[in-house]
Amino acid sequence: MSHSNDRRLTGNRGSTPVKSGNLGSTPVKVPDALVAALCAAQHVCVLTGAGVSAESGVPTFRDAQSGLWSKYDPLDLATPEAFARDPALIWRWYRWRRELVAAAKPNPGHKALATLATRVPKLTLVTQNVDGLHQRAGSCDVIEFHGNLFENRCSVENCVVAEDDGADIPTCPGCGGKLRPGVVWFGEAIPKQALHQSFAAAASCDLFLSIGTSSLVYPAAGLAEIARSAGATGVEINPNPTAHADGFDFVLQGNAAAVLPELIEYLPA
Ligand code: OAD
Repeated sequence: MSHSNDRRLTGNRGSTPVKSGNLGSTPVKVPDALVAALCAAQHVCVLTGAGVSAESGVPTFRDAQSGLWSKYDPLDLATPEAFARDPALIWRWYRWRRELVAAAKPNPGHKALATLATRVPKLTLVTQNVDGLHQRAGSCDVIEFHGNLFENRCSVENCVVAEDDGADIPTCPGCGGKLRPGVVWFGEAIPKQALHQSFAAAASCDLFLSIGTSSLVYPAAGLAEIARSAGATGVEINPNPTAHADGFDFVLQGNAAAVLPELIEYLPA
């Protein structure tokens, strides 16, 4: 089997059968080399994207038809300029997303990542997701690279405000400035601490898992490149392998909620 054949896990490659379950109708096999890397890993760094929450009913951004950016223009909803232009529209959209996420539940993929943290010596979980579902599944110390949907920030002072006042455009009780959702928009900087901790983890891990992300948005997408150039084994988990798939040592082609519970079965509880 050639190296490139080893990379993509479809139904009939690899040599160690996963113990139970399947990916849709295709049984999964995990390559021995990946099992060995997982068992030997001292520090696992995980980057998750919207695909991890897809099976909780939270829409992704770029999937054709179901993705948010196939229905809405991010320039109207996810930039500081859009907020300056029409803050009431932004608040309507983010309040709709808050309701949607509040009604969602963590899925087996989120839960498996929380369990994985208890089965390896060290795990750093970096998420691009703003939905808080990793934390609700039991993951601790999650690095929220793109902020949090439920946080309110003063657009003038940048302080966090616990409650919004429910107005169409809520205001800061301190300075009266407009509040905004505590997410990172296009053109904005990643919170310093999240950036620093994530880059440090990617540079020092020995196994990097990129799960449910299109790897199109930087700097998050650059974490896999940092990890790989520092010598880590790279794994992509995605039903639709991305344009970056060739840069990973292994590609597990399947849904996170199916693949992750299978993967952790290789590690002793
Ligand atoms: P995308 O919508 O760009 O990509 C989602 C990925 O998840 C795609 O590659 C899908 O193939 C994959 N996917 C779909 N269902 C899946 C499943 N059940 N299991 C595993 N993978 C699945 O979302 P992100 O890569 O997270 O930024 O997008 C990155 C950033 O762009 C987001 O954080 C957001 C967005 O604009 C901000 O809001 C700042």
